[in-house]
Amino acid sequence: MEVKKILVVGAGTMGNGIAQTAAVSGYQVTLSDVDPAALERGTAAIEKSASRLASKGVLTDEQLQAALSIATSTDLTPAAGIDLVIEAATENPEIKFRIFEELDQRAPPAAVLASNTSSISITRIGAATARPDQVIGMHFFNPVPLMRLLEIIRGLKTSEATLALALEVGRRMGKEPVQAKDSPGFIANRILCPMINEAIFALQENLGSAEDIDTVMKLGMSHPIGPLALADLIGLDVLLSIMQVLHRDLGDDKYRPAPLLRQMVDAGRLGRKSGAGFFQYPS
Ligand code: CAA
Repeated sequence: MEVKKILVVGAGTMGNGIAQTAAVSGYQVTLSDVDPAALERGTAAIEKSASRLASKGVLTDEQLQAALSIATSTDLTPAAGIDLVIEAATENPEIKFRIFEELDQRAPPAAVLASNTSSISITRIGAATARPDQVIGMHFFNPVPLMRLLEIIRGLKTSEATLALALEVGRRMGKEPVQAKDSPGFIANRILCPMINEAIFALQENLGSAEDIDTVMKLGMSHPIGPLALADLIGLDVLLSIMQVLHRDLGDDKYRPAPLLRQMVDAGRLGRKSGAGFFQYPS
């Protein structure tokens, strides 16, 4: 099956980045979110990012126009003729299972249902549908228009044809797909999130200031940004959910979320998206 129309569910940071990248790669894209305000913020972010890339000559005028013409919808029901759904809603297992149940009932029978989950089992998501052979993980990285990696995760029942389709779409979107086993956090977050969590323990235990902890990793290890700034970019609520999945599903206390991370989330300091996390982001 050749994919022409893609529905992206969820207009948050990941959803709008995926929609933008799919649109500039020649797909007809609809971005849906139950919250109209989230859709407005999502389209504004796409406009800002695509215009920036066009002004640098990374995107042609035609690609910029494609990004600016993404259709939006507050209805989860996929528009007729959708070939692929990429779900990028909140990282909460119960909400994801419910969305997949609904997508399964409403999407055309041949459509493939992909999830951008960063840690939840694709086999479990597939089991919420009557088409687990057509369910797959397509895990993108933030900021999606810039990061080249795409993790592809097969559930226990994902078919070869679904895998081939996800690889093909990922490559056409300019990404380098890497296949990862359906294990908590896959490859990227199994390594990245415990590292960031440890940086939060380091801050909590006053090993250094937030600035100094980040400087150590930037200048000592050539990371483009420090772990605490990266936590702010990912979103502290997302990071906490991933650590909770790793802790619960791998059953090892080395994955326990840092108490300071929990506190920051309780206080609503979620990182860039809320204006403050470990660092301040004045709008
Ligand atoms: N769209 C378009 N352009 C963007 C952009 C976006 N969304 N975000 C940044 N840019 C551009 C900026 O305009 C800037 O362009 P110029 O150099 O022309 O000014 C350039 O990228 C660099 O940006 P900044 O100067 O603001 O900051 P930076 O040099 O630190 O680069 C970064 C930004 C590319 C995000 C870089 O910091 C980086 O690579 N950080 C690491 C990102 C990372 O690790 N992502 C993975 C997160 S984990 C994840 O996503 C998965 C998960 O499940 C948790």
